[in-house]
Amino acid sequence: MRTLRVAVIPGDGVGPEISEACQPVIEAAAAGAGVLMESTQLDWGGERHLRLGSPMPEDGPSTLRRFDAALFGAVGRPDVPDHELIWGLIIRLRQELGLSVNLRPALTFPGVCGPLRGGAAIDLLVVRENTEGEYAGAGGRLRSGHPGEVAVEVAIHSRSAITDAARFAFEAARRRRNRLHLVTKSNAMRYGYVLWDEVVAEVAVDYPDVSWERVLVDAMAARVVQHPEELDVLLCSNLFGDILSDLTAALVGGLGMAPSANIRPGQRLGIFEPVHGSAPDIAGRGIANPAGYLLSAAMMFDHLELGPAGDRIRSALADVLQQRELRTPDLGGTATTTQLASAVLARVRAGEASPP
Ligand code: NAI
Ligand code: MG
Repeated sequence: MRTLRVAVIPGDGVGPEISEACQPVIEAAAAGAGVLMESTQLDWGGERHLRLGSPMPEDGPSTLRRFDAALFGAVGRPDVPDHELIWGLIIRLRQELGLSVNLRPALTFPGVCGPLRGGAAIDLLVVRENTEGEYAGAGGRLRSGHPGEVAVEVAIHSRSAITDAARFAFEAARRRRNRLHLVTKSNAMRYGYVLWDEVVAEVAVDYPDVSWERVLVDAMAARVVQHPEELDVLLCSNLFGDILSDLTAALVGGLGMAPSANIRPGQRLGIFEPVHGSAPDIAGRGIANPAGYLLSAAMMFDHLELGPAGDRIRSALADVLQQRELRTPDLGGTATTTQLASAVLARVRAGEASPP
């Protein structure tokens, strides 16, 4: 049996509750595809930061290189400044492991209603540049604490990162419905987003079968609400992709439903994590929706070319979500995290027993 080495980083808040409930489901899906999942739990996150002064060891990125993939819950706790954890862990890992592309699909599950009245089914993919833009970390503060204090935060946009994200997005569109929208703001911002427009137009020449259009981010925000069913692949910078993907998550049932993958095209190691954070408002109550985490694990299997394991999780989850009593409170149900995950586990195992 093939072995898959997975680093599991539950993190803070709802992260550990969700990770623990989902682990058997993910292992069962792997086993169904003939793979033994060997998981190593890492205690990285806010609690470690308080104890030892940093959310992960100095050699964290090279530790992860020894694994096939990492599954990540969430970080964030009220007693640690958010930027220290996000920068000390997630953004550092994305940058140092070169995970240049972030994938955030938004898919309507039958029976799970979003807030849009009479909304059509949504099936779109946000492809987000993941290492630079407004989150590059270039900047500083002057005259700390004085009335004249200033802060500068410079966005970095490189031809190579834009090209990587664009190629990935066009390839994805080819496997989907052949439509791509580039989201920029090249009317008010004269440099970075103009470079985006130019580079993407150059890449598009190689994909004549994909129809594409440039839309300004503010207009796209409206379009995502008004006609989400018309959207297929959205190619975005780091900041715009972050914001629009929370919006698209909300439209398919909320942050609890949204998965993501941090990958580098052509590289095996990726980090797979739900879009949501540590949800301190509901942490400890056992009611967090595990769907985003399960769907992130499914994306991990897709990326590792174990598609049948990913499909097994997605179809078991789709089955379970049809039943209101098996949904968590964010989806209008009364189930706990464990009840939902256990119902998915039963279906994953049942799927194993029947021929594919
Ligand atoms: P959040 O995603 O944690 O929560 C936003 C809202 O969505 C809350 O009402 C929460 O209860 C709900 N929600 C989130 N996940 C849910 C789930 N699985 N099931 C049901 N409801 C869910 O975002 P927020 O409140 O802005 O941030 C909380 C902390 O998480 C902060 O410290 C923030 O920095 C951190 N964060 C971490 C991220 C990561 O680890 N990748 C991403 C986003 C935020
Ligand atoms: Mg976000």
